[in-house]
Amino acid sequence: MEFVKIGSVAEVESDSMKKFEIQEKEILVSNIGGKYYAVNNRCPHRKGDLSKGELEGNIVTCPKHKSKFDITTGKAISGPKIPILKIKVNDLEKYEVKVDGEDLLVKI
Ligand code: FES
Repeated sequence: MEFVKIGSVAEVESDSMKKFEIQEKEILVSNIGGKYYAVNNRCPHRKGDLSKGELEGNIVTCPKHKSKFDITTGKAISGPKIPILKIKVNDLEKYEVKVDGEDLLVKI
């Protein structure tokens, strides 16, 4: 694994997130309080597009069935909200992020 450039810091404003596609992966980069984090963009439940979810603080909510994840660690906070069923969801894959000048690099 090596650090590869996926974009620039200007593309991810403070307290927001953005999806990047590189090497056939979708990576969700967030900027939380000036620090950058990267996780897999696809929800482990049914592949919901997390970049279209809601970000509150460091918690992203999947747009499909409302699983919640800590975007800074990738940890699942709560599973899908599907009536009757109680399903657990796996954590998101997390990637290391590095800033080099204006460039955003992710280890993949
Ligand atoms: S696809 Fe994300 S909670 Fe179902």
